[in-house]
Amino acid sequence: MKPVFVLNGPNLNMLGLREPETYGRESLEDIQRLCKTAGARLGLSIEFRQTNIEGELVSWIQESRGMACGLVINAAAYTHTSVAIHDAIKASNLPAVEVHLTNVYKREPFRHKSFVSGVAAGVICGFGSHGYELALEALSRIVTQTSKN
Ligand code: DQA
Repeated sequence: MKPVFVLNGPNLNMLGLREPETYGRESLEDIQRLCKTAGARLGLSIEFRQTNIEGELVSWIQESRGMACGLVINAAAYTHTSVAIHDAIKASNLPAVEVHLTNVYKREPFRHKSFVSGVAAGVICGFGSHGYELALEALSRIVTQTSKN
């Protein structure tokens, strides 16, 4: 089975230090460990990456086509601004699950618009790092069903 690309956008490298009252005290490394553990349980290998650069995220999504079985993506602030990421996910032809640590709908109105949701299989937000595990479970089900057809 091809790996799942778990892609993280800007400022998520600051987790643990950044606004802990909003994002919690876990680091991105802790989340990577959690994803690897969940992946092992679900029989999925995990390619976990983070970048602060929009174009790099676009290139990784392009790379996922043919290389990955699906995407888990927390595009962070680019979620709310990036047509390029929307287009790249669409072009990947892969199932994508959008994740946010926080419940973006409880926050500022500018976080209520997502360019990712319209090309995602589903969205998980508000459950902190556990959302990544939930996303991998959802993706595992989609990928297994697809390979049975
Ligand atoms: C975030 C929510 C975004 O609005 C914000 O810009 C982030 C993180 C989240 O995981 O809750 O950087 O994607």
